[in-house]
Amino acid sequence: MIENVDIVLRTLLAPAQTTRPYPDQGIQEGEMDEDERQHALGLMRVNHVGEVCAQALYQGQSMTARDQSNREALQHAAQEEVEHLAWTEKRIQELGGRVSLLNPVWYASSLAIGVAAGVLGDKWNLGFLEETEKQVTKHLEEHLEALPAQDAKSRAVVTQMREDEMKHAEMAHDFGAAPLPLPVKMAMEAMSKVMTSISYKI
Ligand SMILES: [Fe+2]
Ligand SMILES: [Fe+2]
Repeated sequence: MIENVDIVLRTLLAPAQTTRPYPDQGIQEGEMDEDERQHALGLMRVNHVGEVCAQALYQGQSMTARDQSNREALQHAAQEEVEHLAWTEKRIQELGGRVSLLNPVWYASSLAIGVAAGVLGDKWNLGFLEETEKQVTKHLEEHLEALPAQDAKSRAVVTQMREDEMKHAEMAHDFGAAPLPLPVKMAMEAMSKVMTSISYKI
């Protein structure tokens, strides 16, 4: 219980830590006009929200997982999500912005969904995780298209995150994730559209 409260507080209130070097380390800040900077900022804020949700999702997963044998691998993925949080947080600061004001709301709703999936059993829990990671990968690919071409720093961060998320999806798959029914996938996509369009702005 204390451990879980600690995860929530650390995600929402404390700066996240990274073990690996920042992917944009050594890359020069690109020249951007005000519109481009605001656009990059909005996209990186969306990505940060995604990582806040990932914290809640992996937390829900570990609270409800019945089979403990996959635990270590899932903890490794969860640790990488903490790094993503640190990378996006730093990039938002560099772009002169702030994280989404609605982070507590995103966190709480993701945790509720994660726990609900976990209650249904491990294969559904992993299925939900796999589908989320797949959708996030696709979403990051779209961001690579949408980010200003000169913003090499944000691009480096998003590129490494995309690679990690792809591995997380494969891991969940290998552990026996159940394929989710199409309506569930569509509902998840619809929900993430709402989340992204709101957190792009606030
Ligand atoms: Fe992530
Ligand atoms: Fe991930």
